[in-house]
Amino acid sequence: MPTVNSKLDEWIDALALIGGSGNQVNRFAWTPELLIASEWLVNRLRELGLPAEIDAAGNVVGRWLSGEGPAVLVGSHLDTVPDGGRFDGALGVLSALEAIRRLQAERFRPSRPLWIAAFNDEEGTRFNTTMFGSGAFVGDDLSGLRDRVGADGVPLGAAMQERGFDFDSVPTARAIDSVGCYIELHIEQGPRMEAQGLNTAVVTGIVGVRGYRVVLRGQTNHAGTTPMEVRRDALAGASRVVLALRDSALHAQDITANVGRIDISPGGTNVVPGEAVFLVDVRAADPQRFASLDSLVREIVAAAATAERLTAEIDPTHTHPPIMMDTQLQQLLAKEMTAAELEWTSMPSGAGHDAQVLARHVPTGMLFVPSKNGISHAPEEFTSSEQREAGVAILTRVLRNLCSEAA
Ligand code: HGY
Ligand code: MN
Ligand code: MN
Repeated sequence: MPTVNSKLDEWIDALALIGGSGNQVNRFAWTPELLIASEWLVNRLRELGLPAEIDAAGNVVGRWLSGEGPAVLVGSHLDTVPDGGRFDGALGVLSALEAIRRLQAERFRPSRPLWIAAFNDEEGTRFNTTMFGSGAFVGDDLSGLRDRVGADGVPLGAAMQERGFDFDSVPTARAIDSVGCYIELHIEQGPRMEAQGLNTAVVTGIVGVRGYRVVLRGQTNHAGTTPMEVRRDALAGASRVVLALRDSALHAQDITANVGRIDISPGGTNVVPGEAVFLVDVRAADPQRFASLDSLVREIVAAAATAERLTAEIDPTHTHPPIMMDTQLQQLLAKEMTAAELEWTSMPSGAGHDAQVLARHVPTGMLFVPSKNGISHAPEEFTSSEQREAGVAILTRVLRNLCSEAA
């Protein structure tokens, strides 16, 4: 790949310092870190001459106002998982920024508006919301989330107010009606591309994701004096759920299941845990499988509660059905990869993305670049400069194509 003038690596390093140290980054919804990162992006967009703002849902939206018709939208997200890496989401946003910089540098004139978005709260780390910003952008009804409380005990509405935002104004972030299509570049977050020695891939579809918050309650008691056979240990119940979910997913092979957080209380070495609160993530790409996951989780939780004599509450926190990417955009991505003399493959995404929210409304396409050792959602997340360059080169070509007169 020829050396090109690029700001991408410099921007990745600068952004990673906001909420980050070393390779580890923490930027969550409605925290100073994410808002500073969003303002940083607004400033970069304005330097490129694009009007840019943070909308009522916390999304950064920049607009290259050129030509006529529905906009081409390109973007990803800037928020992270707890102790996340530098590339999940951020690489998509910064690659879009760099693609726009390159198009400007060649004095390209888009035949239609070209918008860029960094969607707020894709990961849902703080409030178990997930894809809050893209949901608002497409006009989803998010009104039920106002009182959603995160691990820090602050309700979402209050967290927004603390940062000068108004929950009641979230519906004004709807802008999908002006958008004609959406493109997102993302890291693969799996091992396949690296194993095949490929730097770019066309995404065929995105897995369906269901999230739940489960509360199991038993009886807090003394660890030494309470006979083993009469205990009502909430953590023992949660442990049954963890293993039963894991075993179900192992046997089914085309589903995944994860418990990523457990909080037990009161929490003492000599105290039988009276309460366990935990977060479940289950996924399937096949729509029928996806539909069956709800009863699977409920049955496993009920069986564990019965076995340990506990009460159980299950609240779905988020539901994103599986969805296919637009066929024509897949073809366009493939055509540009071939024209750039890059070897490529097609593959489904096992990770959720804002693209699956946008795809319910407009033709949507995604491209992947590799993840070293298949690792993501961890500080070890890495995509090399050469691989990043391959991705941004394809993104630039695709945007040029979509914003050309004949497109
Ligand atoms: O959870 C996901 O798959 C994504 O990384 N947000
Ligand atoms: Mn992620
Ligand atoms: Mn992501």
